[in-house]
Amino acid sequence: MHWGKHNRLDRVMPGLPQGTGSVMLAIDHGYFMGAVGGLEVPKETIVPLLPYADSLMITRGILQYSIPKRTNIPIVLRMSSGNSILNEDMSCEKLCVDIEDAIRMNASMVAFSIYIGSEWEHQTIVEFSKLINKAKRYGIPILAVTAVGKNMNRDLKYLTLASRISVELGADVIKTYYCEGFDQLTKSVPVPVIIAGGKKIPEADALQLAHNAIKDGARGVDMGRNIFKAENPKSMIQAVRSVVVDGVNPADAFTQYQKAL
Ligand code: R5P
Repeated sequence: MHWGKHNRLDRVMPGLPQGTGSVMLAIDHGYFMGAVGGLEVPKETIVPLLPYADSLMITRGILQYSIPKRTNIPIVLRMSSGNSILNEDMSCEKLCVDIEDAIRMNASMVAFSIYIGSEWEHQTIVEFSKLINKAKRYGIPILAVTAVGKNMNRDLKYLTLASRISVELGADVIKTYYCEGFDQLTKSVPVPVIIAGGKKIPEADALQLAHNAIKDGARGVDMGRNIFKAENPKSMIQAVRSVVVDGVNPADAFTQYQKAL
């Protein structure tokens, strides 16, 4: 791997060389959900969480207007969009950000959603491949977001298919969902895998989810709603971090979380 790309990847996921997990804070939901609950005033929610995240997955608009420019946090920039929650089928995404703008925004990684098995599968695969070609030119690692389209099962067979196709196309890191048999997915995907948190669940369950994923071979989490919608987001990201990076038992991490409430 080229020095620049390697360096960017290690900055986004500092746990990689050390063999520990990494915490990517996902706050890109607004690109199709608008002012999603918990992120109504982005700056107020996000800035206090930054010291506990290894990297920040974000849209260019919120990066530009809500994140202090003097931050050192590595940026994972969302590059695809094309739908809103008002559209029943949200799989029709395209590459919507120029690679030059990603570089101007000092992105350390670029992210794109591919929708395997959806009506727009072909379009998202081709657009994803275009981004890979552009990002490779500049040594920027690519995060494939295995988005789960309408009527798709989040099971091992489907998620492994979507993840493996993403790697075959050239992704450097895969973001997918945790599922039963997850260790088989991570074994069949020869690049780092991180998991999304998904819809808000009780804090103890989210910590258990993070623990299970790491135990089954994930190299970190890309977690959003289960952090910023938590009763205490700042304590929750610290609890997630203790599980993912420090290997703390999820029950102990939850006890610590509760003490901070
Ligand atoms: C989709 O909205 C985005 O790619 C999110 O970044 C991703 O789903 C992770 O966020 P969450 O943990 O809320 O699922």
